[in-house]
Amino acid sequence: MTHTIYQPDNSSANVLRSEHDATLNTLIRQHGLTGNAQQGRILPAIESPLAQLGMQLFFSKALSGSRDVACASCHHPLLGGGDDLSLSIGVDAAEPNVLGHKRLLQGKLSPSVPRNAPTTFNSGLWQQFMFHDGRVAQLETGITTPDVTYSQPDPLAGDNLVHAQARFPVTSNHEMRGEIFDAGGTTQSCRERLAERLGGYGASTESRLPIAETAYWLEAFRHVYQQPQADASVLITEQTIAAALAEYQRSQVFVNTPWKQYVQGELAAISASAKRGAVLFFRERDAGGYACASCHRGDFFTDEQFRHVLMPPIGPGKGNKDAALQQDYGRWLVTQHPDDKFRFRTPSLLNVAVTGPWGHNGAYTSLEAVVRHMLNPFQAALNYDRGQLTQPNIPTAQLAVNLREMLGGNTDLAGQAYQEEDVQHLLAFLHTLTDPCVTRPDCLQRWIPSGANLPESVLQARF
Ligand code: HEC
Ligand code: HEC
Repeated sequence: MTHTIYQPDNSSANVLRSEHDATLNTLIRQHGLTGNAQQGRILPAIESPLAQLGMQLFFSKALSGSRDVACASCHHPLLGGGDDLSLSIGVDAAEPNVLGHKRLLQGKLSPSVPRNAPTTFNSGLWQQFMFHDGRVAQLETGITTPDVTYSQPDPLAGDNLVHAQARFPVTSNHEMRGEIFDAGGTTQSCRERLAERLGGYGASTESRLPIAETAYWLEAFRHVYQQPQADASVLITEQTIAAALAEYQRSQVFVNTPWKQYVQGELAAISASAKRGAVLFFRERDAGGYACASCHRGDFFTDEQFRHVLMPPIGPGKGNKDAALQQDYGRWLVTQHPDDKFRFRTPSLLNVAVTGPWGHNGAYTSLEAVVRHMLNPFQAALNYDRGQLTQPNIPTAQLAVNLREMLGGNTDLAGQAYQEEDVQHLLAFLHTLTDPCVTRPDCLQRWIPSGANLPESVLQARF
């Protein structure tokens, strides 16, 4: 065993070298970590013209049926690339420009979006699946989406997963479309009507934009595509819109964490407690660890596989013929494979401290509670405290019944007794996975549109 990469090159490092450094050195090599989740991936810079256009579109409410919801309403950089809610609120918000935990539905309706908004940060690093259930997926032959039979390539998916994903929120009734816009139309006609609206072309008169705004977008697309004479109908299409949205999101690379610095040799970058947490995280169970990395694998902290980890079934559920059932079968809804019931994609843990609430349905509103769940899912789920749900009117009536059904399936995460102090060490480690930029509004400013001449539809968020 060699410890050469940890040879201190200055005298102060001696003091900081802890008993854990040698152990971690071995674990880091065994797990093949480089510290850099972006290794080998070329992603756009936010300064690129297409990412800049994508940013304005991402914040524009013009992409929603009733012009009241933007992508950023549920994925705001200042909210960790999410919305700070257990279950997202799209259309029918009481105050559409209010984001975060104060965002409520009109008339105190109960949330209709069944899942928690994942962060868009680092979305360019996913290689296989998008969404909690992986319904947008990379195939050898292309990308499959909900518009086609699963495992068939969608010819309109575009050339990366983020582009493929970006074409769906606008077609979802609860997220952005509402019940009125292009009523009875297909997902594709909905996208095309929205592109026509943005470009001010086409026959539809449905909630048109002010002429000044369509002129603004035409100018912006002409600039990006360097085609000063081109028609809106050529430049502003559902495909170019998705491409721009994807470019913006793929520029949200936040991987410069203290953990990365540590793996790359800066022994003082993380605390002794965090080091202990890292050992517990990476070690196998038979070696006294909790084997978190058997699923949260590699520098991106995910194996991109689907697991049944007994996340407490709160919320309206998804895909139930009978709405009263409130169950979410997760990956099974995509594959119909019996083993896939209740399985959800292993989330990345980069920036996890700022991406709460946690779990595919936001069941846990503190990082500590979800870590306790991961240590002993049976104990945590059976003693689940619904009092932690601060968002009003989240359905929980079927919690016990649905949990019983979940316990009947094959869970993929074994429970075990754990030391109290280990929870704190694991939390200290998870906090080292935060890129400092994501906690600093001045640093995030580059991902938020500003300027006096932005179109009216661009979201001016209040928190
Ligand atoms: C109403 C809130 C809401 C709006 C508006 C919204 N999203 Fe989302 N987004 C979600 C939720 C909830 C999910 C998870 C859904 C699921 O997995 O079933 C999600 C998933 C995603 C993902 C997948 C991330 C991952 O890790 O797989 C991306 C990327 C994304 N949204 C981008 C967008 C874009 C681009 C827009 C605008 C075109 C948008 N979202 C609009 C709530 C929203
Ligand atoms: C068997 C695979 C597996 C193992 C082992 C595992 N996890 Fe997870 N973890 C998951 C899955 C899958 C989810 C998402 C479940 C869901 O949303 O329903 C998750 C969710 C999480 C979350 C919430 C992330 C978010 O964005 O919502 C945290 C934090 C977490 N795990 C930490 C840990 C820690 C710490 C350990 C070790 C003590 C661990 N996990 C062990 C698969 C695993």
